[in-house]
Amino acid sequence: MGNITNSDMNPEIKKNSIIRLFNVSKRYNGKFALKDINLDIEPGEFIFISGPSGAGKSTLLKVLYLAEKVSEGQILIDGMNLARISSSRLPLLRRRFGMVFQDFKLIPNRTVYENVALVLEAAGEKPDYIRKKVMQVLRTTEMDKKAKALPPTLSGGEQQRVAVARALVGEPSIILADEPTGSLDAKSAQAVLDFIMEYHKKGATVLVASHNLHLLESSVRGRNIEITEGTIKRTATML
Ligand SMILES: Nc1ncnc2c1ncn2[C@@H]1O[C@H](COP(=O)(O)OP(=O)(O)OP(=O)(O)O)[C@@H](O)[C@H]1O
Ligand SMILES: [Mg+2]
Repeated sequence: MGNITNSDMNPEIKKNSIIRLFNVSKRYNGKFALKDINLDIEPGEFIFISGPSGAGKSTLLKVLYLAEKVSEGQILIDGMNLARISSSRLPLLRRRFGMVFQDFKLIPNRTVYENVALVLEAAGEKPDYIRKKVMQVLRTTEMDKKAKALPPTLSGGEQQRVAVARALVGEPSIILADEPTGSLDAKSAQAVLDFIMEYHKKGATVLVASHNLHLLESSVRGRNIEITEGTIKRTATML
């Protein structure tokens, strides 16, 4: 598709949004997981998604990553309508995203190193760069000593740190992190958040879903979006 965006067609829509959701709903077996979500996110924003268990936080991140299709509504990424992205352009778009899944989704029969390296191999990076970069992110997440381990032999917190390393290794411009510190002790959780913040300071747009608002409260200037029963209940500025 071309570069015609909704903002070209409708002057009321801000041009610089990186993510826009229009009346997005997602139903599973007829039941709403997301209901009529409208959201406008600017490049470089830090969005903190909170809300009770089952509210729709993971679903929101999954529809943005195109891991799930919306039932109604539209999502624009940089003005591109996700519903109209051709399958040939999808991998290129995906590379802009780094996603930490709540359930990690590591490939069980590939080593820690291979799980992380796959992202850069798919992007066609050079072997020297891949080796250097993968070991660098594994050091940052303190998983370098387990580079040769298989995911099923790791603890939950270790798997989570690999999932974070994999999400960030490609230097994505949009980071979608679903409870990225849920399995970690306070020290490791802070290290993971610092790592995400490093990318945020370099300009990445970040969406973090978590119950644990207080972890971020003191350290991030951003926007808190509270979801309840699939709808946005409240938005507030943090700091
Ligand atoms: N694949 C699925 N099939 C059927 N229902 C689903 C599926 N995924 C999510 N749901 C339902 O959608 C609703 C929202 O789920 P979601 O995982 O987005 O919640 P959440 O806010 O991330 O919760 P938690 O804090 O527990 O992670 C829940 O009622 C859930 O049961
Ligand atoms: Mg969830």
